[in-house]
Amino acid sequence: MKATLKNEIIKRLVEADGKPISGQQLADEFGISRTAIWKHMKQLQEKGYDFETVKKRGYILTATPDTVDDAKITVALETEKFGHRIIYEESMTSTQTIAHNQAQDGASEGTIVICEEQTAGRGRMMREWKSTKGKGIWMSVIFRPEIPPYEAPQFTLVAAVALTKAIDDVTGVRPEIKWPNDLLIQGKKCTGILTELQADPDRVNAIIMGIGINVNHEQADFDEEIKDIATSLKIVSGKHIDRAALVARILYYLEIYSAQYVKEGFEPIKSEWESYSCTIGSRIRATTLQDVFIGKAIGITKDGVLELQLDDGTIKGIYSADITL
Ligand code: BTN
Repeated sequence: MKATLKNEIIKRLVEADGKPISGQQLADEFGISRTAIWKHMKQLQEKGYDFETVKKRGYILTATPDTVDDAKITVALETEKFGHRIIYEESMTSTQTIAHNQAQDGASEGTIVICEEQTAGRGRMMREWKSTKGKGIWMSVIFRPEIPPYEAPQFTLVAAVALTKAIDDVTGVRPEIKWPNDLLIQGKKCTGILTELQADPDRVNAIIMGIGINVNHEQADFDEEIKDIATSLKIVSGKHIDRAALVARILYYLEIYSAQYVKEGFEPIKSEWESYSCTIGSRIRATTLQDVFIGKAIGITKDGVLELQLDDGTIKGIYSADITL
């Protein structure tokens, strides 16, 4: 079935808000036969959607699956552009790899690649990213900002603000940002961001932003190595979260904040980033590729560089590092 038609049928039934819509009405609206509509309904049922059929009056949507499939996200979208093209499969190697290929083939800004499970999910520094089936948000978003490559790291900070706000809106729990790209709740990691570029020396062609969020994990879903340092939104909020609704909210803020960043730069977003940060004001250890620096994080520059006051009083700008608090 064509994904967009399936999405449109679900959207129509959601908008009907419990009132039945007849097969004939759907057939007329979408310009296909009643038999074709009936076949689509059967296929949707196989995907976990359910309908009550009210005799002679039509279909009422009674259940949706606990997935992040394109139909569920489409219904919740509030954006102009972001998420209007969704590449969804139940299982993928890594959404990041697929999004890179899509970007190379010209995919437009706001295209997302998302799945229920990654078999080869990857994190920063070539680490493995465990992506348990049906529990998290494993998604890559394609951006096409007109910025020089050296500004791209700021995009991670902008995304961290967007993600923090979306998580707060949907769960009622507000994460803290650990510079540059982890979101923590009660000191444990719930979200990681992996920002990668396709660029020429002087211009960015695409930013591929990988977002991994532990959403409905129970404590037992985490492997031994990470169980003490990882958490999920369900564990901290005490409730099961609608992942598709959260994806839609994330896309809403990513669209707003990325547009603001391209227009006005990082400066107007910086104070919001600082207010969500657990790094600023803390004594930290920053491990870069060459060195380890210990000191007090006193702020970020307007370019998003972390400023560390070392014990001898000198200020060191940190561009990229692993931070321990
Ligand atoms: C990190 O904190 O190390 C970044 C983790 C990023 C994980 C996401 S999940 C979706 C996307 N696909 C991947 O293979 N990785 C990113």
